[in-house]
Amino acid sequence: MTRRAKVTVQTLLEMKRRGERIAMLTAYDYVTALIEDRAGVDVILVGDSVGMAVLGYETTIPVTIEEIVHHLRAVARARPRAMLVGDLPFMSYQAGVADAVRSAGRLVKEGGAEAVKLEGSKRMEPVIRAIVDAAIPVMGHVGLTPQSVHQLGGYRVQGKEPRDADRLVDDAKLLEQYGCFAVVVEGTPWQVAKRITEAIAIPTIGIGAGVHCDGQVLVVNDLLGMSEEFAPRFVKRYAEMGQQMGAAFEAYIEDVKAGRFPDLDHSYSSD
Ligand code: KIV
Repeated sequence: MTRRAKVTVQTLLEMKRRGERIAMLTAYDYVTALIEDRAGVDVILVGDSVGMAVLGYETTIPVTIEEIVHHLRAVARARPRAMLVGDLPFMSYQAGVADAVRSAGRLVKEGGAEAVKLEGSKRMEPVIRAIVDAAIPVMGHVGLTPQSVHQLGGYRVQGKEPRDADRLVDDAKLLEQYGCFAVVVEGTPWQVAKRITEAIAIPTIGIGAGVHCDGQVLVVNDLLGMSEEFAPRFVKRYAEMGQQMGAAFEAYIEDVKAGRFPDLDHSYSSD
C-alpha cells in the first residue's frame, strides 16, 4: 500500500482552495495517534484539552508546557502522516513575546510539533508575528476560547449578537494578516462561522461552529463516548467506549472472583 504524502501547511491551504474538507482530531498518546493516522485524519492536535480529557483537571488552565511536551512526544513517536499541532497552554505565551517564542520552540524542538496553536486575536499580534518569524507555523483560535473561561463567564456560545459576530469575523481576518495558516472557530452560531470561512483564504476548523467551516475538530474522548456525563450539543458520539470499557472491566472482575480467569486456554503448561 502506498503511504499518502505528509500533510503540511501547503496541503491544508490547497485543500481549502479545492473545497476539500479537513478532518482534525485530538490525540494525547502514541496508540491513539497511530490509529487516527491509519484512519486517515489530516491533522492531529495535542490540545490543552489533555488537562480535562486525561489528567482530571476541571479546566484547561492548569495545563503546563511540560505536560504538553510529554504528550506531544508520545504522539510524535507515531510519526504520523497527519500534520502534528501542539497547543500552547495558558501562560506559556500571554506574558510576553520572548516567552511565547521560547514556548513555541519547545513544542517543536522537544515535542516534535510541526505547528503550534494559540488562542486570541488582536492582542496576540506581536506574539503571532514573532512565532511565525521564528519559522513556526501558527494556528489561531477564536470564538469560545477555553483559556479565557473566567473572562467569558463560562463556556458560552460566542457571537450571538450582531456586534459580537462582526468582531469575530474581524478577529479571524486579523489572524490571517498576522500570518496564521489556519483558524479554529469554536462555539459560535454556524452563520458566524460561515461568514468567517468566506472572509478568509486560510482554512477554518470548526468545533461547535456548524458545517460551513473548511474542516472540523473533535476531542477524541468525546467522539469515542468515553464520558457519560459530558454531552454538549455539538459532540457526535461515534462509539460508546466508556460503557464498553466499564462492561469489560466488570466481566474481568467477575471472572477473577469466580476463578474462571485464567482458564487453561490462557495458561502455560509443562509436560
Ligand atoms: O485543546 C483542544 O483540544 C482544542 C480543540 C478543542 C480545538 O483546543
